[in-house]
Amino acid sequence: MKLQDKVAIVTGAGSGMGKAIATLYAREGAKVVVSDINEEAAQTVVQEIRTNGGEASVLLANVAKEEDVQQLIGQTVSKYGTVDILVNNAGIMDGMEPAADITDERWEKVFAVNTTSVMRTTRKVLPIFLEKQQGVIVNIASAGGLHGGRAGGAYTASKHAVVGFTKNTGYMYAEQGIRCNAIAPGAVATNIGASMTGINPFGAGRQQQGMAINPRIGTSEEIAKVALFLGSDESSFVNGTVITADAGWSSY
Ligand SMILES: NC(=O)c1ccc[n+]([C@@H]2O[C@H](COP(=O)([O-])OP(=O)(O)OC[C@H]3O[C@@H](n4cnc5c(N)ncnc54)[C@H](O)[C@@H]3O)[C@@H](O)[C@H]2O)c1
Repeated sequence: MKLQDKVAIVTGAGSGMGKAIATLYAREGAKVVVSDINEEAAQTVVQEIRTNGGEASVLLANVAKEEDVQQLIGQTVSKYGTVDILVNNAGIMDGMEPAADITDERWEKVFAVNTTSVMRTTRKVLPIFLEKQQGVIVNIASAGGLHGGRAGGAYTASKHAVVGFTKNTGYMYAEQGIRCNAIAPGAVATNIGASMTGINPFGAGRQQQGMAINPRIGTSEEIAKVALFLGSDESSFVNGTVITADAGWSSY
C-alpha cells in the first residue's frame, strides 16, 4: 500500500482521470475525498470504492467558486483530520477558438475552472501542509500546457498557467517538505468532449493536424498510475516539474 492512511482530495473525481485517480488512491490505502460538481457521478465513484473495501466520501464543490473551495478543504479536515495529498484534476475544454474568436465569457470560464481553482485550492491547503512540514500537490495540466496546438487559445493559456504555477509552488516550498508537480497527459479517452461546445471550425482544423502523429489515445488508468507515483513517497525527489504522459506524441 503506497498511500496507507493518507488523506487525499481529488477534484473532478466523478469522471475520467479524476475517477481513476480516486479509485487507485483508495486501493492504495488512502482516505479519498471524491469531489465534483456532479453529485450523482461522485456518489457512484464513492459507492464503487466502498464496495471494493476502500474509504471514500463525497464533498461537492464547484472549483470555480471560492466559497466551495473553502468548504472542500475545511470539511475534509473536519472529517478526516488533515489533508496529505491534493489532486487538482477538475478541468474543461474550450471550443478550439484561436485568439481572434475567443469571447471574454469563454476565457473567463476556462480560466476559472482550469487555473484560478488550482491557485485557490493550493492557497487553502498550504497552511495545513506548512504546519506539518509535509504535503503533496498533483496538478493535472495537459500536453496543451507545454505545446501550442493541442486546443484553443483559452485552454492552452490556462494550462500553461497551471504549469507555471506548479513550478513556482514547487520551488517556493521546496525546503518545507512540500512537493508540487503536474502531469501533462496527451489525448486520453474520457468524457471531456462534453465540455466542448460551439466548436470553432478553423481552430479545430488546425488542432486536428497534430493528431496524425499521435501514437494512440491513452486511458485514465494510465494517468492514474503517474498520479500515484507523484502522490506517493516513490517520487520523494521529484518536485516543481511536469511529467508528460502521451505515448511519445510530443517527442516528434
Ligand atoms: N481527456 C484528455 O484528453 C485530457 C488531456 C490532457 C489533460 N486533460 C485534463 O485532465 C483533467 C480531467 O479531465 P478528463 O479528461 O478526465 O475529463 P472528464 O470530463 O471526464 O472529467 C472531468 C470532471 O471534472 C468535473 N468538473 C468540471 N467542471 C468542474 C467544476 N467547475 N468543479 C468541479 N468539478 C468539475 C466534471 O463534472 C467531471 O466529472 C482536466 O483538467 C483536463 O483538462 C484531459
